[in-house]
Amino acid sequence: MTVAEIRKRYLDFFAGKGHKIIPSASLVPENDPTTLFTGSGMQPMLPYLLGDNHPEGTRIADSQKSFRAVDIEEVGDNRHTTFFEMLGNWSLGDYFKKEQLPWIFEFLTDEIGLDPRKLYVTAFIGDEKNSLPRDTESVEIWKKLFKEKGINAKEALIGSEANGYERGMQDDERIFYYDSKKNWWSRAGIPENMPTGEPGGPDSEMFYDFATPHDKKFGEKCHPNCECGRFLEIGNSVFMQYVKKPDGSFALLPKQNVDFGGGLERTAMAAANVPDIIAVCHRPILDALERMSGKKYESKSPDAASFRIVADHVKAASFLIGDGVLPSNTERGYFVRRLLRRAIRHADKLGVKSTAFADLVDAALEPYKGVYPETYAARQTIKSEIDNEETKFRKTLQEGLREFEKLVAKINLTNSFKLKGAANVPARISGKEAFDLYQTYGFPLELILELAKEKNVAVAVERFNEEFEKHRELSRTASAGAFKGGLADHSERTTRLHTAHHLLLRALQTVLGPQVKQRGSNITSERLRMDFSYDGKMTDEQKKEAERLVNEKIAEDLPVIHSEMPKEEAEKLGAEHEFGQKYPDRVSVYSIGPKNATSDTPRFKEAFSIEFCGGPHVAHTGEIGKFRILKEEASSAGVRRIRATIE
Ligand code: ALA
Repeated sequence: MTVAEIRKRYLDFFAGKGHKIIPSASLVPENDPTTLFTGSGMQPMLPYLLGDNHPEGTRIADSQKSFRAVDIEEVGDNRHTTFFEMLGNWSLGDYFKKEQLPWIFEFLTDEIGLDPRKLYVTAFIGDEKNSLPRDTESVEIWKKLFKEKGINAKEALIGSEANGYERGMQDDERIFYYDSKKNWWSRAGIPENMPTGEPGGPDSEMFYDFATPHDKKFGEKCHPNCECGRFLEIGNSVFMQYVKKPDGSFALLPKQNVDFGGGLERTAMAAANVPDIIAVCHRPILDALERMSGKKYESKSPDAASFRIVADHVKAASFLIGDGVLPSNTERGYFVRRLLRRAIRHADKLGVKSTAFADLVDAALEPYKGVYPETYAARQTIKSEIDNEETKFRKTLQEGLREFEKLVAKINLTNSFKLKGAANVPARISGKEAFDLYQTYGFPLELILELAKEKNVAVAVERFNEEFEKHRELSRTASAGAFKGGLADHSERTTRLHTAHHLLLRALQTVLGPQVKQRGSNITSERLRMDFSYDGKMTDEQKKEAERLVNEKIAEDLPVIHSEMPKEEAEKLGAEHEFGQKYPDRVSVYSIGPKNATSDTPRFKEAFSIEFCGGPHVAHTGEIGKFRILKEEASSAGVRRIRATIE
């Protein structure tokens, strides 16, 4: 069964159970400054899990494209990818455990045809410290479900992961209780790590048994949460029913929700009974790579990791670029850069030389033609971005590799002298040398580490990180001095333009849509310049409307209020901040309006605009004067630039 078939069957199955099917959200979260990327189906659902009414009702399902940067290093094994789709179904205060578990079991066994004997499940053991009860209800439901399939499923208290390795699993045991490290889900992880206001709950996971022999490298005995490769987690039903209170205890949410997330590609692996995610789900890229390299992909060959890395990274970078994240050195963009540079190196290792790297994009996106038509339609842009990045990297790659070889030769020589003498610590690539490779030749750290591993030399990673931070501080200080937070000076006219800049951002979001984000700004006493994310040229009407809206807010003479607050609080208020910027724990915020706002009662909820900002600003918008847009043009792919002035 292909990925496309499983996706369709899942959505049809849940539509049949009264669910509205919603489209996948962007990989770049909207109105959620707490995470860089959408990494699970629940992220876009957060407001509804907290109690807001969803416009589509109380039963929702989707297949959400997701990107998990934390897994970059794991890619190359048989099960990890950075890009994947998460099958999701949600009950927003509607059904609960006794519907969710039978439905998902029915889907996997009767719809997809998985052998129930190959399924193992887990549940929450309870947490006395936090007064969170054991989930015996889920365990009883699971026992009954297995019994209906003629399977005697015994329960077992595993508790911690370490205990699993010591105790292992006994005959007929199929349902396992684990602690909050394994069977509690919130965006922040275990109950102790959740901030005030964060929702979470106990969960019940399902594992597929590939019946491969246990590998003792991971622990003495095997159990469902063992990492040896025998068991693969394919889905998780979270009973999202609690919220963290300011005193650290837990209260029930106004609604008892279900948040199910299942790995689409992992379900396909189970359906094929093949423990290799790339072989099952990335066939078109593998075919292209085989053609380009003249090598055959084999799960167990030494080349397998390179094939897998290229396959995943090209697909992930294509989807990220499709959602507007271009390769760069800022936070999100840097992930795309790392993916591509690492993929280029591995394609080279496979012997892919004569063909441009961008040619793999068609193979990566072909299977998604009908599912994500916008991404598929954007493939020319995606290819040209990847081409540019390849050209940039190739300019320095060979020189960088030569430099690297020299470092290795020097280290080997030093070590060969040392070994004859005393028990000295072997020489390694210093933090400064690694940082030079990064800065001069554009080698991301993981690439340096990978090369070093191949040559069997160590890298002073902590020192590299120190150099990296030092450099970041320096460049930040330099730019703060040069622009004073985007302002050329603090003259009165510049200050008026600065407040107009805030009004303009909000006006653009009103006219063009809330997805518009600021991507850069520069203000002199003559004019303001704003870069913002938007696909396509603004029409004359849109420009006029944005200008009119700013002038309307100026005419209303709204108060401009300065506040300071913890970063999380500002983020919760939805305060705008510049893409890729890092902010301290306490931040300065400027809000504009409503009419009766004061610094004692800022009335943030009714404000026209609210932004992370260090100022300065005028006290009332009436001081700005008449606002006029001078020019709107393309800045780079997916980014527009506006120049405007005041009269
Ligand atoms: N939100 C849950 C997860 O991401 C389902 O695993």
